[in-house]
Amino acid sequence: MRQAVDSKADSSDGGGIPGFLLNLAASVATFIYTTGFLFFRIPEVILLVAFYPLQSFSAFIGYVIMKQSSLLGRASRRIFHFISLFGIVYLVDHHIPKPLPAPDASFAGKTVVITGANSGVGFETARQLAVDYGMNVVLGCRSKAKCDAAAKIINDEVASSKSPAISMKMRATPLIVDLAEFASVNSFVSQLQGMGIDILFNNAGFVPEPNMPVNQYGLDPSFTSMHLSHFLLTEELLKQNPSMRVVNTSSGTHHLCAIPFVAPDFIRRTLPLEQNPGCIDEDFLQTKIKTETDSAAYIQAKLANVMHVVEIPRHHPQSTSVAIDLGWVGTHIQPFMDGTLSPTNLGWMRSASVGVLPVLHAILSSDEELMEGLDRQWTDGGILMNVFGRSEEPFSQPWWSERVNLGKSRMLDLSLELWNASKTLIQKYSN
Ligand SMILES: NC(=O)c1ccc[n+]([C@@H]2O[C@H](COP(=O)([O-])OP(=O)(O)OC[C@H]3O[C@@H](n4cnc5c(N)ncnc54)[C@H](OP(=O)(O)O)[C@@H]3O)[C@@H](O)[C@H]2O)c1
Repeated sequence: MRQAVDSKADSSDGGGIPGFLLNLAASVATFIYTTGFLFFRIPEVILLVAFYPLQSFSAFIGYVIMKQSSLLGRASRRIFHFISLFGIVYLVDHHIPKPLPAPDASFAGKTVVITGANSGVGFETARQLAVDYGMNVVLGCRSKAKCDAAAKIINDEVASSKSPAISMKMRATPLIVDLAEFASVNSFVSQLQGMGIDILFNNAGFVPEPNMPVNQYGLDPSFTSMHLSHFLLTEELLKQNPSMRVVNTSSGTHHLCAIPFVAPDFIRRTLPLEQNPGCIDEDFLQTKIKTETDSAAYIQAKLANVMHVVEIPRHHPQSTSVAIDLGWVGTHIQPFMDGTLSPTNLGWMRSASVGVLPVLHAILSSDEELMEGLDRQWTDGGILMNVFGRSEEPFSQPWWSERVNLGKSRMLDLSLELWNASKTLIQKYSN
């Protein structure tokens, strides 16, 4: 409404039709930019409001007053609007997130295995761990050429780094693993034998097309690569080091398992999801693992990444495990994220260098730091790391509701069922 009034004022102010069109174009561009911004920044904005409700409310009221104020002209109001948006970026990317630990000798020399390390989150994590913290990184990739290229970039940067953390010769080691094949995972494990793995970062993933046919095991290929192969890798490496830290890249989409249940019917119908959409339940464990992919396959795989993390310390009490609730991060996982006008270049999405912050916290924090702010009774299960690098209990947000039979206790029961089903499948197909 305000913009319509402004447009009218513009044309009657002597700008004529060109002025009116210019103003209209600016209003449309502002609207599109703001919509994109809010869509891609929604995980951070939700947490911002949850952590700082009073400050957020006051800032919003201040914003509305300034926007309505006659003190500012139209152009100044637009500038104020964009300053507000970039203010949010500054807050959620740089001011609010928990600061990373300073590099010191305790990190140098530790060894981290990373799957999907040639690109995006995996590559950026490997780069920062090796260059800033002096850690050994084993890059697990399915393409030798991409893996070698990624290792070279990191090793070159390490060689030219002046960081005090790098007091010894650190290396990124490229190794081949294709998570679509259990045999490749087993071969990867044998190559890791004797390397003293401290941390495993199960990161590789992709967004599956619906209707991808079942794979050579008769299983959903996305569930196989993103969950079952990581399950196998974790079990095998925990045999080598029972106190290994395990970090899984999950996603905010895992919450979509719960949300359609609590949403009113008319919203549920508009989502491209069925009644029991991205959830992992008895029906999924009985039949859906053995079907082609559907529109919920990615959500199911990302939910499985969290459920896996929940169970790891229950079966391997010396280990710790963390699932990452990543938010949107500008990588190569979707075609629209590449290119000059990508959501990252437009400032809508976190860049990979900022977006890996929760991963770095999950890898670098001590066990005690990971448990900060959590219910002490939650000490026997894995945890979730949010976009600000703060620990949460999985399935503790209000939408995981007993009212719709998807409360925390049910998700924990289902996590155990998933664990048992994964173990059976791995035993059947991986030998
Ligand atoms: N970016 C986001 O906004 C976002 C949000 C939430 C969660 N995530 C999660 O973050 C993780 C990393 O994704 P990304 O965003 O960094 O995307 P990315 O840049 O596409 O990286 C994905 C990596 O996984 C590898 N990969 C895929 N299938 C594989 C397989 N069968 N075997 C071995 N490696 C395989 C890819 O290898 P190739 O290069 O050979 O394809 C690539 O290195 C994924 O698990 C994803 O679900 C991302």
